[in-house]
Amino acid sequence: MAEFIIVSLCLLLLSVQAPAETGMIGINYGRVADNLPTPDKVVELLKSQGLNTVKLYDTDPTVLSAFSGSGINLTVALPNELLSAAASNQSYTDAWLQSNILPHYPSTQIYAIAVGNEVFTDPNNTNYLVPAMNNLYSSLKSHNLDASIKISSPIALSALQDSYPPSSGSFKSDLVEPAIKPMLDFLRNTSSFLMVNAYPFFAYTANSGQISLDYALFRNNSGVLDSGSGLRYSSLFEAQIDAVFAAMNKLQYDDVKLVVTETGWPSKGDEDETGASEPNAAAYNGNLVRRVLTGGGTPLRPDDPLKVFVFALFNEDEKPGPTSERNYGLFYPDEEKVYDIPLTVAELNGGGSESDAVNASKVVVVAVAPSPTVAGSGAGQTWCVANGQAAEEKLQEALDYACGGGGADCRPIQPGAPCYAPNTLDAHASYAFNSYYQMKARATGTCDFGGTAHVVTQPPRFGNCQFPTKY
Ligand SMILES: *[C@@H]1O[C@H](CO)[C@@H](O)[C@H](O)[C@H]1NC(C)=O
Ligand SMILES: *[C@@H]1O[C@H](CO)[C@@H](O)[C@H](O)[C@H]1NC(C)=O
Ligand SMILES: *[C@@H]1O[C@H](CO)[C@@H](O)[C@H](O)[C@H]1NC(C)=O
Ligand SMILES: *[C@@H]1O[C@H](CO)[C@@H](O)[C@H](O)[C@H]1NC(C)=O
Ligand SMILES: *[C@@H]1O[C@H](CO)[C@@H](O)[C@H](O)[C@H]1NC(C)=O
Ligand SMILES: *[C@@H]1O[C@H](CO)[C@@H](O)[C@H](O)[C@H]1NC(C)=O
Repeated sequence: MAEFIIVSLCLLLLSVQAPAETGMIGINYGRVADNLPTPDKVVELLKSQGLNTVKLYDTDPTVLSAFSGSGINLTVALPNELLSAAASNQSYTDAWLQSNILPHYPSTQIYAIAVGNEVFTDPNNTNYLVPAMNNLYSSLKSHNLDASIKISSPIALSALQDSYPPSSGSFKSDLVEPAIKPMLDFLRNTSSFLMVNAYPFFAYTANSGQISLDYALFRNNSGVLDSGSGLRYSSLFEAQIDAVFAAMNKLQYDDVKLVVTETGWPSKGDEDETGASEPNAAAYNGNLVRRVLTGGGTPLRPDDPLKVFVFALFNEDEKPGPTSERNYGLFYPDEEKVYDIPLTVAELNGGGSESDAVNASKVVVVAVAPSPTVAGSGAGQTWCVANGQAAEEKLQEALDYACGGGGADCRPIQPGAPCYAPNTLDAHASYAFNSYYQMKARATGTCDFGGTAHVVTQPPRFGNCQFPTKY
């Protein structure tokens, strides 16, 4: 009897301790900026947000040292500029490993090395990639690290010839023999995985007439049927990933796993970058996190939980290109949030994180719910509130404008009225900003107030005050 109980207990413990594999959310820590916090501070920020899987774009020694002992799972990179040298001979990768990885490993928990990033955007790299991966692998092997550190290389979706519908997914024919097949062989032989950078934003902004914004942002939508497979897609992201799976299937690499090493949505863009906005970025990234942490795989590989690195931790002011490029961050360089989204299961469940502390001068925000079953009112609804960073004087000025010339309905924040309490500048300004924003039908640019306001995707909570969404 006692034995039976012990066995049952063990079984019970086993079943409790071995939950089904769930999705993973990591983040890209890019540093193309002149104003970021020190790496030590960044590690503290990551920990405070519950982010324990991080990807870097190099092996900067100061950064790697900062992660030492942090318990954070790192993917590091051998930059594109070193690809041809790494391909030329193993003594190069031996030396690179010796000076870039070994001084930090294992106190800095390096899980994988990305050999280059989107290397096929330069056709010259086609013949370098796999030799470089092989040399690096041999170097790892000579230190018995080949089983501990994975090698892969993030490919851009531009490596696909076709991606719509997903079932038609195929790799560019000129890449298949020289690079894709040898790379997938390498990944299979070394029990590694394909890295893919996927941006529904690019597809949306280039085809906003054809692609529904709800579909691009993981909001409730009627879905898109893939007539080739008969599968229905409820998000552009999943369709893009399945296009890669379909392309792998055509070459018979269904057994090779995949990690999405970059995806994201910019909170700002140029005039012609349709869809780049703070509410859209908050919806995309918030719904992505929810989808990854609570859902299964994609329609083509439903049993493979999604592993996704969000791009990016910070807005990076020195990135070239259109405005969007400098505005993918979840955080400003001063560590303030650009918008507030849940990043962990605990936050999704409405508890846990410090940032959830309810405080009249600090608004709690959760991402747009992708389905009506998730608590929270009105998928897709947005509000405008004071962003908690503005100087008091600036905020007062903005409040005066909103209630004066701006025409916001400020009667509810007058003494005796329902939204007078809490009687703080933050709460009153938020009420007025939201009133203005809703009156303007939430048009782009109507939630700025000289940089003192921002859009949120969950009803603001200030005492018992109801923030209208209609006037
Ligand atoms: C580390 O990150 C990778 C993704 O790069 C993930 O697949 C793996 O499960 C993580 N490992 C741990 C121990 O968290
Ligand atoms: C191999 O790499 C080493 C180190 O970078 C370099 O000095 C040497 O010239 C290379 N040898 C060949 C044959 O390319
Ligand atoms: C590719 O290599 C050729 C010959 O070495 C060189 O002239 C060309 O500039 C390279 N292209 C790029 C994009 O680097
Ligand atoms: C992968 O393994 C197969 C079979 O062992 C071998 O023929 C092939 O050359 C290997 N490919 C790579 C890229 O290592
Ligand atoms: C979700 O979308 C479906 C199909 O378009 C629609 O019937 C349903 O009412 C929507 N639900 C919500 C909460 O918007
Ligand atoms: C609320 O937040 C403000 C500013 O962040 C802080 O000064 C204040 O002490 C907080 N109040 C509570 C009750 O946490």
